[in-house]
Amino acid sequence: MILVTGAAGFIGSNFVLDWLAQCDEVVLNLDALTYAGNLENLASLEGDARHLFVKGDIGDFDLVASLLARYKPRAVVNFAAESHVDRSIHGPEDFIQTNIVGTFRLLEAVRAYWGGALEGDAKAAFRFLHVSTDEVYGSLEKDDPAFSESNRYEPNSPYSASKAASDHLVRAYHHTYGLPVLTTNCSNNYGPYHFPEKLIPLVIHNALAGKPLPIYGDGQQIRDWLYVKDHCSAIRRVLEAGRLGETYNIGGWNEKPNLEVVHTLCAILDDLSPRGDGKPYKEQITYVKDRPGHDRRYAIDATKIERELGWKPAETFETGIRKTVRWYLDNQAWVTNVTSGAYREWLGKQYGA
Ligand code: NAD
Ligand code: DAU
Repeated sequence: MILVTGAAGFIGSNFVLDWLAQCDEVVLNLDALTYAGNLENLASLEGDARHLFVKGDIGDFDLVASLLARYKPRAVVNFAAESHVDRSIHGPEDFIQTNIVGTFRLLEAVRAYWGGALEGDAKAAFRFLHVSTDEVYGSLEKDDPAFSESNRYEPNSPYSASKAASDHLVRAYHHTYGLPVLTTNCSNNYGPYHFPEKLIPLVIHNALAGKPLPIYGDGQQIRDWLYVKDHCSAIRRVLEAGRLGETYNIGGWNEKPNLEVVHTLCAILDDLSPRGDGKPYKEQITYVKDRPGHDRRYAIDATKIERELGWKPAETFETGIRKTVRWYLDNQAWVTNVTSGAYREWLGKQYGA
């Protein structure tokens, strides 16, 4: 069995679906079900004994300790986090609580379990894999080389600072206590079950709803996009063969300016689901005030994971983005369900929508 935290969210749910499509090893899913966590993402696993769900907080030491004692997982994969940069700017508190304090308490519970309950081969085989982000490295200039694992940490937003702090705690638990940890730092993901507050699902959602497609600043900020299933396969590979205490950058060599991404989405939508009035979706593009402290460019050098572990992404941006748009068109009911309540409240506050 493996314990996966935050597995009702975007990447975590894709990871569980992918894991159980590849093997029968049971997944224990611990998720607090914040606005970003939706069990609907895992509806296809209803009644499947290989998926056990527990609603709870990674910061609840007693709960995590009791789950570890009861289920004795061979690994913990930590996805649970507050993940949206804009939210971290408007309200950093939850990011400090979950990403820093929560990760600390989770590490404490795992350390007690690994140091106390496990012995021999089970102790040697145990792994704690921490899922992190390229944003911890800060922002690149146009001609800078892509982020490698040896880049200095220079986080710029409350979100990336909180993730950087959690990475440092994970590193320290290896260095100080010998906890068998692995850390992955991935670039921007896209794909199914992506909550429509992030650029790609937001643009698809707003385009179809006839709403503005908000571009922050000049839209020339660059992100390095990776199809979520490729992130999942990379994590599986690191869990299987990563060297203890190491960090692995994960990315798809797909740097794109935001405006280009939005134009691509509009063109695919023009093709697959044309506007009723025959006009192109790009007419809905609206330039809005820039994100404070907006990082200009991210780019991942994924040489290490390819060289050491033989991992490569399967999708190009062109194939992955088309699949993604199709998924949203085919799953409008999912979008409607997750975009009620708390989401509307947040959008209302942010954009006066
Ligand atoms: P998400 O916001 O979609 O999902 C986060 C999940 O964690 C949700 O299900 C939520 O309910 C759960 N959660 C939040 N606080 C919790 C707590 N205290 N205890 C238990 N569960 C809690 O996020 P995501 O985009 O799927 O990201 C998952 C992880 O991957 C995060 O750690 C994020 O930093 C990292 N990451 C994301 C990206 C990306 O592009 N989305 C890229 C690199 C790394
Ligand atoms: O790089 C990895 C990170 O990618 C993850 O660690 C984060 O969890 C994830 O949310 C993502 O962060 P970004 O800030 O890069 O993603 P977001 O989708 O919020 O924004 C992508 C880019 O698009 C960014 O430059 C801001 C811009 N943007 C975003 C939104 C929501 C817009 O121009 N308009 C928008 O409405």
